[in-house]
Amino acid sequence: MTPRASLPSRIPPARRGPVGRGPRVGVVGLGYVGIATGVAFAAHGTRVVGYDVQGARRDQVARGDSPIYEPGLDRLLRRVVRAKRLTVASHVAELVGESDLLFVCVPTPSAPDGSVDLRFVEEAVGDLALVLRKAPGWKAVVVKSTVVPGTTEGLVREVLVRESGREIGPRLGLAANPEFLAEGSLVADALHPSRVVIGCSDRRTARMLRAAYRGFPSPVVELSPTAAELVKYASNAFLASRISFANEMAALCEATGTDVDAVMQAVGMDPRLGPRFLRAGPGFGGSCFTKDLRALLAAAGARGVELPLSEAALTVNERQPRHVAELAERLLGDLAGKEVALLGLSFKADTGDVRESRAYPILEELLRRGARVRLHDPRSLDAFLESLPPPLHGRISREILPMRTLREAVEGADLAVIQTDWKEYVRAGPAIWRSLRGPGVLDTRRCLYPRTLRAAGKVYAAVGRPPPALPAAEDPEAGRSPGDLRKPAISR
Ligand code: UGA
Repeated sequence: MTPRASLPSRIPPARRGPVGRGPRVGVVGLGYVGIATGVAFAAHGTRVVGYDVQGARRDQVARGDSPIYEPGLDRLLRRVVRAKRLTVASHVAELVGESDLLFVCVPTPSAPDGSVDLRFVEEAVGDLALVLRKAPGWKAVVVKSTVVPGTTEGLVREVLVRESGREIGPRLGLAANPEFLAEGSLVADALHPSRVVIGCSDRRTARMLRAAYRGFPSPVVELSPTAAELVKYASNAFLASRISFANEMAALCEATGTDVDAVMQAVGMDPRLGPRFLRAGPGFGGSCFTKDLRALLAAAGARGVELPLSEAALTVNERQPRHVAELAERLLGDLAGKEVALLGLSFKADTGDVRESRAYPILEELLRRGARVRLHDPRSLDAFLESLPPPLHGRISREILPMRTLREAVEGADLAVIQTDWKEYVRAGPAIWRSLRGPGVLDTRRCLYPRTLRAAGKVYAAVGRPPPALPAAEDPEAGRSPGDLRKPAISR
């Protein structure tokens, strides 16, 4: 399972007494980052106002109802809304009027060429700037969205100065303040950031940001805006590289009859390396790593800088779904006409988010080999189906078979492939797996207990483990020598 920070046993209550001694916080964009940021500041005792361009989202958050699924978020959001520590403005002027620090938390998607699309940042900053033109008192714009190095001092400064008619100086501050929140542990990460990185070019904004973060139990690092932006990309590129390295080692473990978890655990005991983000799996998914790596490569390329390590992290990741399909072939032989249950569609457990989930390319690889694919996820089946690209969407009910329960998905299938380490799969008893028609389970996360499969009379195969010995009747490679059998039929 992916190591992740656990929720604190006690979520800090909203502070008693008058709030607002520190700077007031405004949050533009109520997605994952904006909500987590707002809720964390509010829980640490700061007065927070949120705003989103979508009216329905504003209403939902104003009711204390989280628009995203994230463990612990609902409860904490309800609490800070009830305590009136977090309110929602119905227009930008209201937000600006009630805030000192204006955090920009809008999406920065990939443009078709992989570079970062800064349209939403530009729009949000432009909207704030128009109001700032007439707003009294000191205010600062703080860029929390992930933006390539140079954006805050470049595009953001330019739009802000142009549209507000004010210079950055005594009455207007500007800063970059990247976030390091991971989905599934959003609340814990927001309340207890490993570090607060602030990039300011003026002293007053630095002081105000430090004051806003006073209640947080985190070290504060002060850098230039561009260096702060780079910390975010360097962190994600490094984390992604570690995962790709683990996946590369997983293939070698399969070929050498060793177990990648045992190997990487021992590797991670070196204090210079540390144990986290060394879990092999189906490859990294989610809205950040792939997007940020591509944006980093594009931004570096535009400056004539090559980043071969970051590029390799992406290449290894793109291969991994093919490798998963090849492991499925190792178990079933030709996949044409076979029915495979793909279990878990979220990009990782404890989130309903399917963005860049490895379930998409795995599904495509299985379909390309002629399999029919049953889909199951305890939380994100509908989101996954809705976001299937049109050519695949048209194949729903023919080769793509949505299943509402785990039993329905598994019963009579030729193989089950675990893509997300949901607890429901980890806890499933032997009876579920016994209902498979085929030889067993391919666990890309190594989250199941092999003994559960043994009790069901099925084989357990996994990414990063020696291939299992198959019962002769089910072995697509029966007839090959045992030496051949240990050699996975994989081309990488
Ligand atoms: C990631 C970073 O961890 C956050 O620090 C960062 O703030 C965030 O991106 C962002 O830029 O906004 P996130 O994508 O939510 O967070 O989730 P991760 O826990 O990092 O997982 C990303 C992917 O890597 C998942 O598919 C996960 O299953 C996979 N993973 C993670 C592995 O395959 N092995 C591991 O050891 C760890």
